[in-house]
Amino acid sequence: MKFKHFLEQRTSIREFHDKKVENEILIKLMDLAKEIEKKYGKDSIKFVLYENGTKIYEALKGLGGYSGVMIKSPHYIGIQTKNDDKQTLVRSGFSMESLITKASELKLSTCWISVEKVSTKNKQILGATEKNKINYITAIGYPQRKSKFEPMPTSSRLAIEDIAYMEKWGNKANIDELDNRGLTDILYHVRYAPSTHNDQPWRFIIDNNNIKLAIINPKELSNYVDGGIIAYYFEGLIYDLGITNSWKFNDKISIDTNEEYAIIGSFKI
Ligand SMILES: Cc1cc2nc3c(=O)[nH]c(=O)nc-3n(C[C@H](O)[C@H](O)[C@H](O)COP(=O)(O)O)c2cc1C
Repeated sequence: MKFKHFLEQRTSIREFHDKKVENEILIKLMDLAKEIEKKYGKDSIKFVLYENGTKIYEALKGLGGYSGVMIKSPHYIGIQTKNDDKQTLVRSGFSMESLITKASELKLSTCWISVEKVSTKNKQILGATEKNKINYITAIGYPQRKSKFEPMPTSSRLAIEDIAYMEKWGNKANIDELDNRGLTDILYHVRYAPSTHNDQPWRFIIDNNNIKLAIINPKELSNYVDGGIIAYYFEGLIYDLGITNSWKFNDKISIDTNEEYAIIGSFKI
């Protein structure tokens, strides 16, 4: 499926059917996870499947998720990293969202769950240690069947003009300029990327054929994960146009002196 169609219907599912996912589907998903680890993991990212979701749910109830609201699902997949520097957080977002699109192709529903504020001791059940960090897991399963008449929940998004700047920070782009560069449709769809608390911390700075990806509130570490997620979709939307470029992520992410934003990478179009 083209990325733009996927993004149009992508949504987080928080109520799962008790039914377990068939073994062969879980095996297929974890095979795809291995490919993603190899492609983007740089030896520091590993996916971990928790087949026994009940055990994980019971252990993390009141601790994991927004304000301890843990999501109950038959299985979870965690992203394990050797460190939690900003570059690894960006790659974690990119990699986990890549796996989420594969899960969707296998007809599975998902929801990211934040466990970064849970102490290492309290998340030992996930295999988290000081060396093997697990800050995010994803609930995986089949969604609870909803009534035909119940509308799909949707979360609002910022306007295109609010996330795109021309040449420099703060210089808002207008639709005509974006149209001239063929970017309107891409920016329209990429806004549907998920983000922590739906904060949408990403901004694009368009400088001729170079696009820089920035995040606001650079002290908030989850924003780097959100940055990795939107980078994944931006690259996918461009790929659907037949252009196979990829992001060059910054090896060193420095916070601008006013600490308003940080540039995490750039993309040539
Ligand atoms: C890194 C990350 C962490 C998230 N953590 C949680 C969480 O702990 N609990 C939860 O219910 N949703 C979580 N979400 C889901 C977001 O709230 C959701 O993606 C956002 O509100 C947009 O809604 P949508 O995905 O349905 O479009 C998380 C999303 C991301 C990207």
